[in-house]
Amino acid sequence: MEAHILTFLSTVLLLIISHFTQPLAAATATTPNAYTTFIRTSCANTTYPSLCSKTLSPYAADVKSNPLRLCNAALSVSLASAINASATVSKFSLQKGILPRDATAIKDCIENIGDSVDELKQSLKAMSSIGRNANKQFQMANVKTWTSAAITDANTCTDGLAGTKVSAGVKSNIRSVIKSFIRVTSNALFLINHLNY
Ligand SMILES: *[C@@H]1O[C@H](CO)[C@@H](O)[C@H](O)[C@H]1NC(C)=O
Ligand SMILES: *[C@@H]1O[C@H](CO)[C@@H](O)[C@H](O)[C@H]1NC(C)=O
Repeated sequence: MEAHILTFLSTVLLLIISHFTQPLAAATATTPNAYTTFIRTSCANTTYPSLCSKTLSPYAADVKSNPLRLCNAALSVSLASAINASATVSKFSLQKGILPRDATAIKDCIENIGDSVDELKQSLKAMSSIGRNANKQFQMANVKTWTSAAITDANTCTDGLAGTKVSAGVKSNIRSVIKSFIRVTSNALFLINHLNY
């Protein structure tokens, strides 16, 4: 009987404690940093919102609530991803026993990604001139053109591999890095297209 009452009392006590502590704990755990919220909100309508938030959150302190800086960060993420993709694809070109035709397809792909890298650098350059350039509209159009071209070139790489005998494993590895690159770059393009400047 006494044990019962004790169990009952401790359950009540636990309920009371959890009633008072839980909302507080939840509130502290989810209290969003204003700058992280800005990124999440800006990313909400992109094609890959969670990827957008994940890749841009590390720039929150730098971006603050500035949409232009957010676009800059998005392009930097994109450039890093293109460089990474290029390094990954280059690794596969060094494989032994690869057919000459397939080696050519991989070489073309490396060239395509190299073009994407250059185009993103141009895009970042045009973007950085917007703050001080009188001809904002012209520079913004350049940013859009370079960024779209970077996506097109990456797609050319994957299309070029499609008809080859490159092993399924290599194809899937290349497709995977190119896909991540295209995704972050599509997000960047969305943010750029929705920038009020
Ligand atoms: C996202 O889309 C919704 C619905 O069209 C719109 O109300 C909202 O303002 C958009 N958010 C951003 C950050 O553009
Ligand atoms: C770079 O590519 C590898 C796959 O080769 C991937 O696992 C990694 O997440 C990529 N890093 C970035 C920053 O994109």
